[in-house]
Amino acid sequence: MRLLGIETSCDETAAAVVDSVAGVLSNVVHSQVEMHALYGGVVPELASRAHIRNIGPVIAAALRQADTPVAALDGVAVTAGPGLVGALLTGVAAAKGLALATGLPLLGIHHMEGHLISPLLEDPDAGDAGIFPFIGLLVSGGHTLLVHAAAFGVYRLLGQSLDDAVGEAFDKGATLLGLGYPGGPAISRLAEGGDPAAFAFPRALRDKSNPDFSFSGLKTSLRLHLTAHVGETGEFFRRDTAASYQEAIVEVLTNKSLAACRREGVDRLLVAGGVGANQRLRGRLAERAAAVGVTVRFPALSLCTDNGAMIALAGLRRLQRGQHSAMGLNARPRWGVEEADAALDAPPRSAAG
Ligand code: KG4
Ligand code: ZN
Repeated sequence: MRLLGIETSCDETAAAVVDSVAGVLSNVVHSQVEMHALYGGVVPELASRAHIRNIGPVIAAALRQADTPVAALDGVAVTAGPGLVGALLTGVAAAKGLALATGLPLLGIHHMEGHLISPLLEDPDAGDAGIFPFIGLLVSGGHTLLVHAAAFGVYRLLGQSLDDAVGEAFDKGATLLGLGYPGGPAISRLAEGGDPAAFAFPRALRDKSNPDFSFSGLKTSLRLHLTAHVGETGEFFRRDTAASYQEAIVEVLTNKSLAACRREGVDRLLVAGGVGANQRLRGRLAERAAAVGVTVRFPALSLCTDNGAMIALAGLRRLQRGQHSAMGLNARPRWGVEEADAALDAPPRSAAG
């Protein structure tokens, strides 16, 4: 079985072809990061327009690179939500058009399900038993979630950010420090050689029994810190500030993820999303997880950030279960991970004719 997966929930226009036997045949991602960098963050209207411009060529490239004509596909999967509504609509409309024109089954996939199953793409030999159950820490510019994944399709939200996403905390912090966008890589570069204990930035909701996150106060405290030290422009001060700011984020993510593992009695942790690229987070988490017997998995960056392959795989698994979506499929900008199959509500195809 072979599926096309389309992803346009935020600022990546992505398409991929995944085969149930051969695995990932193509994985094309067009990033809009340069365009949004001018504004220091994702501008939803510009994202939608760029998706419209790029979706056709990106899908064509994914099919070409996989050497797969549309006639050789068994279905079309697309991220139906959550995400930016205008961005999602582009992918959903493209997928519906393709499905209508070809008669292929359409599969509306939950973006977080895609992230959660990314290890199955990277390590297919592990099988479900080698992957589930695990705790997923999903951290990007748009999301900050802790999810318990018992099995494919069985997810429970443990906690999430009450305000800014972690990536936003990096991006807004970088803007305050006069660094470019995206802020995560910029802050982590500046933090190299800095002292992470130089300044005490707040760790919000630090009670380990509270699984939720809050990052908006952190950014405010950075602003106050910079105002209080106005005139201090030395490289040491800036490096220490970046290292301490990053440390506050890394410590909160590490504490809460490991506390969730302990509370749920699960010894596997998956980190996905752009912030998963952070070296300090990788280092601290690996070290502290090992000390408590938890195995941490960081998928390769190409499968860890937004991509179509994870959506194609989710679609494949859903189709294998006999699920698919009705042609009335719509974008679902807000959508809980526990109802990940809510858009796969069409009657079985045989019954539908
Ligand atoms: O998953 P992603 O590529 O895209 C979306 O959010 O759609 O994540 C991007 C986010 C940005 O906020 C960026 O600043 C952050 O991930 N990021 C990082 C690092 N690389 C990217 N944050 C911390 N450290 C990094 N090395
Ligand atoms: Zn994502």
